Amino acid sequence: MNGKMNIPQHIAIIMDGNGRWARQRGKERSEGHIAGMNSLRETVRNAAQAGVKYLTVYAFSTENWGRPQAEVDALMELICKGVESESAELAKVGIKVKTIGDRSRFSEKVQASLEKIESLTAAGEQMTFVLALNYSSRSEIVTAVQRLAQRVAAGEIKAEEIDEKMISDSLYTSFMPDPDLIIRTSGECRLSNFLMWQASYAEFYFTPTLWPDFDKAELEKALEAYAARDRRYGLVKK
Ligand code: FPP
Repeated sequence: MNGKMNIPQHIAIIMDGNGRWARQRGKERSEGHIAGMNSLRETVRNAAQAGVKYLTVYAFSTENWGRPQAEVDALMELICKGVESESAELAKVGIKVKTIGDRSRFSEKVQASLEKIESLTAAGEQMTFVLALNYSSRSEIVTAVQRLAQRVAAGEIKAEEIDEKMISDSLYTSFMPDPDLIIRTSGECRLSNFLMWQASYAEFYFTPTLWPDFDKAELEKALEAYAARDRRYGLVKK
């Protein structure tokens, strides 16, 4: 990688294609998720090494509850196992873990796991790694609108005072900047209810590579594509 390359401060990834990766190999879908987890572990390290400050991944959407129970269970198991095996090393290398989404629907065991990894890694300053769990952009916006409406009803703010910043500050993502680069693997070219408000000025990178095959070289390709983009934010180039 070119040392002087313009590195995105925040990358968000829609990790897609675990199921197809498994099917191509005659394996169970859950094995695809295990391979996806390995790919995620490497990507977290590779992104931190490249100088990325925030990495957000779509790990479980509100729609994913509709998958077969065995697959949902396997994903929950992976979250708990991931916490067990990764917490200490993430803390050591300075990676702070956070989540976005409604955690209340997860089992107590999963919720306890998430609290554990957040507290163990809270001091990390190298990179913030954000897991979107039981997340959907529309439900995030609905929750934010309800909160602001309650504040108006309570007389704390006036309706006409609501601005973009107030909305951003009411979203799950209020603690981080908007994503600069959104990556989606497996050839699908859609946002699927992920960070819709936050994606306003993001660059998009779509690759046919399935998530379990997304390795360091693939991340480098995405970073190179990003560095070559011309971000104008609706302005004229100087
Ligand atoms: C998409 O592949 C992937 C997911 C829905 C889950 C992402 C999960 C991981 C990468 C590993 C587990 C990590 C955590 C933290 C839970 P897909 O199943 O939609 O693949 P397909 O489109 O080929 O069927």
